[in-house]
Amino acid sequence: MKTICTSIAICVLLALGSVAHAQDSAAGAPAAGAPADAAAAKAPALPAWIQEINDRPWDTGGTFWLPTKASLQADSDFMFYAVLALSLFFLTGITAFVVYFTIKYRHRPGHKAEPSSHHNDALEITWSVIPTIICVFLFIGGWDGYVSMQTRPAEPLLIKVTAKKWVWDFEYPNGWHSPNLHVPIDQPIELQMTSLDVLHAFYVPPFRVKQDIVPRRYTYIYFTPSRLGTYRLYCAEYCGMNHSLMKEKAFVHEAATWQRFIDEAKAAEQNMDPKDLGKMVWEKKGCIACHTIDGGAKVGPTWKGSWGQQVKLTDGTTATVDAAYVRTSIMEPQKQLQPGYPPSMPTYAGQLSEAEINGVAAFIESLK
Ligand code: CUA
Repeated sequence: MKTICTSIAICVLLALGSVAHAQDSAAGAPAAGAPADAAAAKAPALPAWIQEINDRPWDTGGTFWLPTKASLQADSDFMFYAVLALSLFFLTGITAFVVYFTIKYRHRPGHKAEPSSHHNDALEITWSVIPTIICVFLFIGGWDGYVSMQTRPAEPLLIKVTAKKWVWDFEYPNGWHSPNLHVPIDQPIELQMTSLDVLHAFYVPPFRVKQDIVPRRYTYIYFTPSRLGTYRLYCAEYCGMNHSLMKEKAFVHEAATWQRFIDEAKAAEQNMDPKDLGKMVWEKKGCIACHTIDGGAKVGPTWKGSWGQQVKLTDGTTATVDAAYVRTSIMEPQKQLQPGYPPSMPTYAGQLSEAEINGVAAFIESLK
């Protein structure tokens, strides 16, 4: 009886685990038209076809259990369903027998317990061989999927990923940076990932890949996109107050379109009006997580109407919000703090070009 109870407990846990995991994934399939698209819609002038792609809603397809398959790694879905089916089979089977035996052999007046045998070879071989076959099957399937995700492909396309509170930065081979992931179809991808502050995690449910991102070291992910489309990209590790803002898009392009996309997007940003470039930096580099442009307070002071103002600093002095103040705040954020705001901004030294820093100042100036 003890063994049966333990088996039931394990099966119930397995089944619950499968259900909970699947619901995570199902919840991961996002609702169409969520607010993250609003920022993209307001982005400054980019070539129309690039803007059109940026504005595409993410794919919401898939089954009740799992979102759309969009990479070769999603072929391991079969194992998920196998584990789920096994769990349900044993959960219902064992539960049914427990209920049946409990009723059949219950204690009642005048009922004499039947003698039970000490040993039954056929039974013991059956309950040893069948679970062994199941375990080997699960191991082989799991190992196959694991190796496919952990092995560096022969000639991967390398994209460098930097995560920080609370923004993604994807750096492409042509030097272009984007908060979104753009990859060509049928091309093995290598993501080399690091964090500038705390733990984050890269997660694109349709690609079936998820990996922690750790400060001061690199972690890697390999996958081969196999379906054109736009998918949600998440941070899957709670990384502080605005963790939920770290959701972006993963685009799978045709190979030729991909190259043209990253080249034209890069060129467009280089030729952009400073004010527009500053606005794009605000949206793309994470400023938006803490600074509003409508006068409301967030983690940091609003940018609206701040240009030219005298502000009090925590060291008792005052400063004027001008290009020099903006520059210092970007490079050494803790140096000129305003009272009432936490010293939580990371430095952007080395991460913004001169044009982008000037662009931020121009954008703030335009928000009078
Ligand atoms: Cu980054 Cu959660």
